[in-house]
Amino acid sequence: MAESAAKIDYAERIPNNVSLAENRRLLRALEEWQPRFLRWWGDMGPEGYQAKEAYLRTAVSVDAQGWAHFDWVKMPDYRWGIFVAEPEPDRRIHFGAHKGSPAWQDVPGEYRGTLRRLIVTQGDTEPASVEQQRHLGRTCPSLYDLRNLFQVNVEEGRHLWAMVYLLHAHFGRDGREEAEALLQRRSGDPDRPRILGAFNERTPDWLSFYMFTYFTDRDGKYQLCALAESGFDPLARTCRFMLTEEAHHMFVGETGIGRIVQRTCDLMREHRADDPGDVRRLGGIDLPMLQRYLNFHYSVSLDLFGSEISTNAANSYTGGLKGRFEEGKKADDHLLTDASYPVTELDGGRIVTREEPALTSLNERLRDDYIMDCQRGVDRWNAIIRKAGLDVELRLPHRGFHRAIGMFSEARVSPEGRVVSQAEWDAKKGAWLPTEADAAYVGSLMKPVIAPGTFANWIAAPARGINGKPVDFQYVRLD
Ligand SMILES: [Fe+2]
Ligand SMILES: [Fe+2]
Repeated sequence: MAESAAKIDYAERIPNNVSLAENRRLLRALEEWQPRFLRWWGDMGPEGYQAKEAYLRTAVSVDAQGWAHFDWVKMPDYRWGIFVAEPEPDRRIHFGAHKGSPAWQDVPGEYRGTLRRLIVTQGDTEPASVEQQRHLGRTCPSLYDLRNLFQVNVEEGRHLWAMVYLLHAHFGRDGREEAEALLQRRSGDPDRPRILGAFNERTPDWLSFYMFTYFTDRDGKYQLCALAESGFDPLARTCRFMLTEEAHHMFVGETGIGRIVQRTCDLMREHRADDPGDVRRLGGIDLPMLQRYLNFHYSVSLDLFGSEISTNAANSYTGGLKGRFEEGKKADDHLLTDASYPVTELDGGRIVTREEPALTSLNERLRDDYIMDCQRGVDRWNAIIRKAGLDVELRLPHRGFHRAIGMFSEARVSPEGRVVSQAEWDAKKGAWLPTEADAAYVGSLMKPVIAPGTFANWIAAPARGINGKPVDFQYVRLD
């Protein structure tokens, strides 16, 4: 584990800690991809602020001290690069049929197609979210939030670099073609959409943005955690470093929603506004509306984990390509050939739990880990509501609610987990999911607030600023 492995040479055109300079062919290929990436960033990155300086963090090395360095930068000048976590000496594959063998440094021929698909699917989400969020800067609720948006955006751009590096370094011509295609698809474009459904939804307002970073970036965390266990070591190390950046994205979501909840509770208490209509007259986002947005973003994020029963998931595990969440901490045989796992299923008109083979249930198991993690934030939001003395609770809807993938896509399920008729669904849908009127109302709140230390009326100030700076710091220089 040479010290030098963690050092990043910022004099390079592409900052990296993967000794790019020693691999001329790869370096040249990536240097050719770089201007195309920058063109994509110019076309599809944050609109309107490319020439402004923002207070952003970037990695100057990947060890604990060096990976978060803050400075002023114009986004197109951000030093996107290739950073991977330190190698573990003598790392072994620790699950599946190859358990105990040395981790692969090169792609094993038999898994080439599967690995490429896993990397492309992950890679596609990164530029997609930048595209989804590109108009939000115009309506920022504060400079603090604007800066956080840009931080998320540049890091998703870097995550694209991370996946493109793997494609170029390990998948030859196919990999280069996939790297091009990642810049060609567009979120929400009917002719060339992004691969996964949630990444083609619109993120038209900041409420949707916070919900997205809380729920959808968290799906990313769980996918990255599963890939960080991979027997293909370059993928594992790449994902481990990406996870350090991902944590901030979910922080933005959790605290963003928490601050909206706080502001709504303050309005309700100060003005004795118990009714959602009263809260809206005061310019706040009422809690039932928050619940509807939560229902939507949670359910589309649940879909990202795939079908409950999946032979693809079983094969990726047995092949040693994608592990479970915290695979290394689990005390079982890491083969799962004889194990079972309880899966919530649809049985005609009823919802039941059945023991299924653990291997084919791996998507569901990862979804369970995700659900538990989502609940923690909901508990913290509810603590804010309770502290305000209000008798309301936000809830995660049932996993079968509003699903488009997996067995629940065949039924209509209420947020409480009751299979309902189409007629009941149609009658109650407006109470369960955001309506056009909700979207129009939230849209009407989206006015830019750009004086340092001031915040839109619908959201509370954060408890503290970024990197020890005060809340009223000028996080983006707009002059
Ligand atoms: Fe990402
Ligand atoms: Fe993210």
